[in-house]
Amino acid sequence: MATILPLILISIFFLRVLSSHTIPNQDVSYMKLVHDATDIPENEEYDYIIIGGGTAGCPLAATLSSKFSVLLLERGSDPNKYPSVLNEQGLLNVFVEEDDGENPFQRFVSENGVEIIRGRVLGGGSMVNAGFYSRGHREFFESAGVDWDMELVEKGYEWVEETVVSRPRLSAWQGAFRRALLEGGVGPDNGFDLRHLVGTKTGGSIFDEDGNRHGAVELLNGVEPGNLKVAVRATVQKIIFSDLSAIGVSYSDSEGKTHTAFIRKKGEIILSAGAIGSPQLLLLSGVGPKSHLSSLKLPVVLHQPHVGEFMSDNPRFSAAVVLPFPLVASSAQVVGILDGNIHLQTFASPAPFFILPTFGLLPPQSTLINPSLALLIGKFSDVLSKGSLHLNSSTDVKNNPIVRFNYYTNPNDLAQCVRGLRKVGDFLKTRTMEEIKTQDLEGNKGFQFLGPPLPENLSDNSSVQEYCKETVTTYWHYHGGCLVGKVVDRNYRVIGIKNLRVVDGSTFSVSPGTNPMATLMMLGRYVGLKMLQERSS
Ligand SMILES: Cc1cc2nc3c(=O)[nH]c(=O)nc-3n(C[C@H](O)[C@H](O)[C@H](O)COP(=O)(O)OP(=O)(O)OC[C@H]3O[C@@H](n4cnc5c(N)ncnc54)[C@H](O)[C@@H]3O)c2cc1C
Ligand SMILES: *[C@@H]1O[C@H](CO)[C@@H](O)[C@H](O)[C@H]1NC(C)=O
Ligand SMILES: *[C@@H]1O[C@H](CO)[C@@H](O)[C@H](O)[C@H]1NC(C)=O
Ligand SMILES: *[C@@H]1O[C@H](CO)[C@@H](O)[C@H](O)[C@H]1NC(C)=O
Repeated sequence: MATILPLILISIFFLRVLSSHTIPNQDVSYMKLVHDATDIPENEEYDYIIIGGGTAGCPLAATLSSKFSVLLLERGSDPNKYPSVLNEQGLLNVFVEEDDGENPFQRFVSENGVEIIRGRVLGGGSMVNAGFYSRGHREFFESAGVDWDMELVEKGYEWVEETVVSRPRLSAWQGAFRRALLEGGVGPDNGFDLRHLVGTKTGGSIFDEDGNRHGAVELLNGVEPGNLKVAVRATVQKIIFSDLSAIGVSYSDSEGKTHTAFIRKKGEIILSAGAIGSPQLLLLSGVGPKSHLSSLKLPVVLHQPHVGEFMSDNPRFSAAVVLPFPLVASSAQVVGILDGNIHLQTFASPAPFFILPTFGLLPPQSTLINPSLALLIGKFSDVLSKGSLHLNSSTDVKNNPIVRFNYYTNPNDLAQCVRGLRKVGDFLKTRTMEEIKTQDLEGNKGFQFLGPPLPENLSDNSSVQEYCKETVTTYWHYHGGCLVGKVVDRNYRVIGIKNLRVVDGSTFSVSPGTNPMATLMMLGRYVGLKMLQERSS
């Protein structure tokens, strides 16, 4: 043990050095639009004010600013401040680094005890996520409650893809995963495809061939500086109303000073603060269940019982396998999609050092140098268990609200997890995986699991269900809180309020596609184009 630890520490150290010295290879021309909130004058007027410079907020701002003046307010900093998140090899940092209040991500633990990550940086979740890019599935478009213009949807996806999407060069591990999925019966082989298709495919990635991240910030490149002002370290505290019309916002800068900004006639305010941030800000601004607002002594602008309701998170089921050879860190590049929209993916990383003291792991002698960790993960799209979001009693927007997702309270969700794990079992029995089984000193071959091993008998429903519940964690695709048809109408306008929309993952009743980022970027573009059409007609 004493000899292994330093070696692994060195490999982690190397990983960090590598990532923090990577020269950013992103197009950063958007930086000319970016101002620190401390430099923004008071009481300025804009046609549109967008709250949250995230995955949906950036494309929306770029689109509206082609014709109108826009202020984009983001609580985090410019991502160039954090070189490690700009490269695939630095992805691990997001999972292991402490949240010091200044990081590009904010951690919090839901009432269900699962730790969640929220983007807190210009570009939002797309700057800290795993980068897998896949368009939404048919059932998402059918169930979203929106009269989609499918031609405009297609154009929206294409506009995004031109700038941020690459065809990944498969790492050795992702290639092995792909072969084993096909051997395990997850067919057909759909090659490389950006669409959501049953079978096995290589998906798009916002990491290019050299591992450079191309997130939502790059959708701001090429925007006329005259029309768009991006304020970073601008934390919106509330939306200002006059009767039932939104008229402005108040936000604080990094020095704690409060600023206000207002919209012009015919202008609008758009909330794109994400599935946690948007319902939180509506509540803090007085739009929500009256009893909850009154209990916190918040003035009620509109009693809206559904704000913060229908919070949902796709539970992640997983098995972590220790492999006795080095692998480069790779985020998901391949997906296996089963009927019923159950998805299997994988991550690989050099084994993080902290697993040693916790699990007393001792790889065989021959493999002391560089073991790796392969995480087999899965989720399903249609989550029937729902939860809710409430404000923390402190009512400071910087504090996370109190969220519960109630994982697996609906038995159908548990059945989906059982089906997914059985497929993981089939996968582990394939010839490709047989070849990488490890051998212990008695000569027994098997997989060395980190944490709980998969149940021996995957045909036994109750032990697999137990495994699902005990190991439940997040796929980071949490959504809901401002649902279409409940809080916003089919044009994403807040029902009962003038000049206010919500455009982000909080409006989803179902998380789109294999992974939601593609559809969130498309949505920002789509709603922006629709708003431009509305104003010119
Ligand atoms: C670790 C991780 C891995 C993931 N992997 C993938 C993946 O591989 N593929 C995929 O498709 N999806 C992935 N996702 C999910 C995806 O990234 C998110 O669903 C998506 O980014 C959410 O977009 P959004 O626009 O709804 O919110 P966000 O992108 O989170 O944008 C909200 C923005 O609003 C800002 N904000 C919030 N409150 C305020 C306020 N009061 N004032 C000012 N600004 C505020 C936030 O800082 C943030 O920038 C992952 C997510 C995480 C966390
Ligand atoms: C509310 O937030 C404060 C500050 O972060 C924290 O100390 C407190 O525990 C939170 N309360 C609840 C109920 O989560
Ligand atoms: C096991 O679960 C499946 C659904 O995952 C169900 O169809 C089957 O009837 C269950 N079997 C038993 C013995 O409960
Ligand atoms: C596995 O579980 C199933 C269902 O409970 C049972 O019928 C079968 O006998 C079990 N197999 C073994 C090897 O225990």
